Amino acid sequence: MATIPPTDSPRVSVVARPMTSLDIDSVVMTHRSAMPGFFLSSMGTGFLKTYYASLIDDPTAIARVAIDSSGDVVGFAVGSMNPSGFYRRLLTRRWLAFAVASVPGLLRNPGATWRIVRATRYPSTQPHGDNLGGLYSIGVRSDTQGRGVGRTLVNAFLEEARARGSSAVYLHADAEGNDGWNALLQKMGWRLESTFSTPEGRRMNEYWFVLEGEPNVAR
Ligand SMILES: CC(C)(COP(=O)(O)OP(=O)(O)OC[C@H]1O[C@@H](n2cnc3c(N)ncnc32)[C@H](O)[C@@H]1OP(=O)(O)O)[C@@H](O)C(=O)NCCC(=O)NCCS
Repeated sequence: MATIPPTDSPRVSVVARPMTSLDIDSVVMTHRSAMPGFFLSSMGTGFLKTYYASLIDDPTAIARVAIDSSGDVVGFAVGSMNPSGFYRRLLTRRWLAFAVASVPGLLRNPGATWRIVRATRYPSTQPHGDNLGGLYSIGVRSDTQGRGVGRTLVNAFLEEARARGSSAVYLHADAEGNDGWNALLQKMGWRLESTFSTPEGRRMNEYWFVLEGEPNVAR
């Protein structure tokens, strides 16, 4: 897993704004650059495009991109107001597009079938609640990491979650081999709520950022 480079690199000036359909190609390139070894990257470009196109179509989604002074996308953060069944609805609403887009990735890695099936069961393993947002994924282009973009994106995500009525946002981060991301979260005041293992044996940290009061959470 990628680590954040030393943070004495100069800050890069970025603006965070909502992701649109015109950003999808750049977001997919950024995703692959930031997270080359991650599961979604292994599913290929077509799958990622379908994923982000479906995500921004969902009214409960929160999707932000960071734009540098040349107008290029250098990072993204996506999640949602975290309604029960978010991933299941995402996959089933465009099941045919996802099925077609999955073929190359599944031919390369047949074991990924189980991960996709599990994603359709998402609500049973994630916390959810009326006022709990979820930050599902964040990535900064590899040549721009460690220069303040991730912090800007996290702040933009939290701002939007608050505007939509969240009292807290949660996220899951790999507990091992992920020192930079865990350090950033703790530095920004995220609370380490629990640690658990996925069915694949990955140790994960669950963090919450409380915006107001205490969230009403169900599992
Ligand atoms: C994780 C990621 C999103 C962070 O974004 P970034 O732009 O690189 O990070 P930033 O420069 O905004 O943030 C760095 C902050 O965390 C701190 N930080 C970073 N690495 C650190 C480390 N190893 N130890 C201590 N603090 C660290 C920095 O000091 C900085 O704090 P500051 O703003 O007070 O100086 C980005 O590096 C990335 O895309 N990584 C690969 C994908 C990934 O792991 N995504 C997360 C899982 S979905």
